[in-house]
Amino acid sequence: MHTANEHTAVHTHRTEGVLVIEIRNPPVNAASAAVRQGLMAALQTLEADPQAQAAVLIGAGSSFVAGSDLREFGQPLQPPQLPAVIAAIEQCSKPIVAALHGAALGGGLELALGCDARIAQAGTMLGLPEVTLGIIPGAGGTQRLPRRTGLLRAIPLVCRGERFTATQALELRLVDAVVEKDTDLCAQAITHALGLQGRKQRIRDEAVPAEDAEKIAAAGQSALRAGKHQPAVVAALSALEDSARLPFGEALARERAAFETLRLSPQALALRHLFFAEREATRPPAEWKQSAQAATPRPLETVAVIGAGTMGAGIAIAALGARLNVILLEQTPEALQAGIQRITSHYQDRVAAGKLTAAQVDAAQARLTGTCHWPDIARADVVIEAVFEDLAVKQTVFAQIDQHARPGAVLATNTSYLDVDAIARATTRPQDVLGLHFFSPAHVMKLLEVVQGADSTPDVLATGLQLGRRLGKLPVLCRNAFGFIGNRIYNAYRRQCEFMLEEGAWPEDVDRAMQGFGMAMGPFAVADLSGLDIAWRMRKAQAATRDPRERYVDILDHLCEQGRLGRKSGAGYYTYAEGRQSPASDATVRALIADASARRGIARQPLTDTAIQRRALLAMVNEAALLLAQGVALRAGDIDVVLAHGYGFPRWEGGPVFWARQQDPATLNRELEALAQISGHGFVAGDLSILLNP
Ligand code: NAI
Repeated sequence: MHTANEHTAVHTHRTEGVLVIEIRNPPVNAASAAVRQGLMAALQTLEADPQAQAAVLIGAGSSFVAGSDLREFGQPLQPPQLPAVIAAIEQCSKPIVAALHGAALGGGLELALGCDARIAQAGTMLGLPEVTLGIIPGAGGTQRLPRRTGLLRAIPLVCRGERFTATQALELRLVDAVVEKDTDLCAQAITHALGLQGRKQRIRDEAVPAEDAEKIAAAGQSALRAGKHQPAVVAALSALEDSARLPFGEALARERAAFETLRLSPQALALRHLFFAEREATRPPAEWKQSAQAATPRPLETVAVIGAGTMGAGIAIAALGARLNVILLEQTPEALQAGIQRITSHYQDRVAAGKLTAAQVDAAQARLTGTCHWPDIARADVVIEAVFEDLAVKQTVFAQIDQHARPGAVLATNTSYLDVDAIARATTRPQDVLGLHFFSPAHVMKLLEVVQGADSTPDVLATGLQLGRRLGKLPVLCRNAFGFIGNRIYNAYRRQCEFMLEEGAWPEDVDRAMQGFGMAMGPFAVADLSGLDIAWRMRKAQAATRDPRERYVDILDHLCEQGRLGRKSGAGYYTYAEGRQSPASDATVRALIADASARRGIARQPLTDTAIQRRALLAMVNEAALLLAQGVALRAGDIDVVLAHGYGFPRWEGGPVFWARQQDPATLNRELEALAQISGHGFVAGDLSILLNP
């Protein structure tokens, strides 16, 4: 019997006395309104069919159900809602087995937990990641999951939104069996369903296992701390606690109410914005579609990394982890040895932490070749340069690359600020050159700016994006301009923070205010951590061309002149006592800052945390408007993705553009005028409407 209706997202057919209910909502079978309606209809078919004694619920394509349809979350939800579908599964007189593969996340896992049994294909990813979107599971996830796992395991899984594998799910008793990847999942599920012999076995009828109350309380506290007391984490914990102390129906209703409140909260809005911006960012721009042929990535199996310093070693580790062959080139055997040692220590740490096996490390290291001999890079499909940040050095290196790389190889620079076109011009093939700006540590940070030079061809850029995805990164395309997207905005922000130092704030005031807003670290603590000498060197290089009328804060230069280069020298904006982790403020620094104010004739006035936050954020927002107007950033959302992933901007604020859109436009424009006034000559005020009216 087939009731496949091409217009529905759910198809059914009966085989061997079992009704197979198949969800077909490509690409990931999101539990949209159409899917929910289709499931309700399928359950009626099941109940009405005397030949069917059980059902199998399965997803077509690459996944079971990867989650709810987030696009619906900003509006009133269409009936039937997911809890009603799950209630209907539980009320159905015949058992239903969920057959999982690909992803069973969020609403997908909740749907599966509403069934009478679950079998999963090896490789399935499961989890309740709702808190990462500022909400909690709203269809019984916080009630059914702990009935199987116990609260001690459920708390980190739900409060941190951790994903887990099919094997872990089996250990947690969340699935009843794991089947091999190449077996017929549907057939196995049918056998399992027949084995139930009509028995219903609802998780809701089970009790939450008894566990040590003190340990549960400690797990809760640790989850709250890790989640920075975000409303979603607080609500998730409370819903989990309900599971052990309230009747199922009552706890379920409270979970749904909390979900409904959070769904429309500002944090959830911000996190959904970032979720969609992240997806959008990795897509090539629409105009490339017209030249689809030209935008096909070039082959990509072997990467040469030039320079085995901090970044080069990190990039090599990332590439080895993605099963690419790596040729690492340094200028001297000593420098090469030091670079290889960096990579080796990384692997030793991973093995010690139980994250990699010795065999995996051997396999990775077997793909690594170290060399000081330029002709060795001829095998590379992509060459990534990560030598000193100096234009002349990079141009010399690119002339060498040009001489030895094979025709058609993609040539990338990891420069932070330098002009990609000036580097490309050192070769005879600027069309093959692009920027690949990794973030430190390069094997950890997900962000990758893919920088389009004036001559870079679409297929070269497509290869950059592809490499980024293969390395598990979030590649964001941008155009060549000083600092690209991230460093350019961060510079504007840091500059404004320096103005505030001169006007009356101390470094700790600015850092406290920005951390209070949610930045991972304050700007002066960050500066100390990365070393002040990098900025000092850049400032010296720019001194000759700097407009003397420009407002220029020289506090950093004076700190560096006194040997205060940041954390590595024991002192910078703060003092770092030996053996002490936390920085201390310093009378010398205060005197130096007060001097700077006096030289400029400023009577120091304290600034409130709110004033500091708004000025600093507005500086970022203004630069974002300029970047978008100049076409350096292709989409406003890309700017938010870059700031959230590379610069510690709080995700629950959605990024500077999203933040700006939540403000009153008239106030923002008024504040921008004031900011332009106080920032003086050289400050360019952008037209914020480009950001505010998407
Ligand atoms: P680093 O000083 O740790 O490493 C540079 C390496 O390049 C050294 O090992 C040096 O021996 C090698 N090198 C220099 N000239 C060479 C040549 N002619 N041939 C072969 N190797 C040569 O520097 P780091 O921090 O790794 O930076 C490298 C690049 O990455 C710079 O352009 C920097 O701006 C950029 N970058 C740095 C980030 C960071 O946080 N450190 C973040 C993002 C980009």
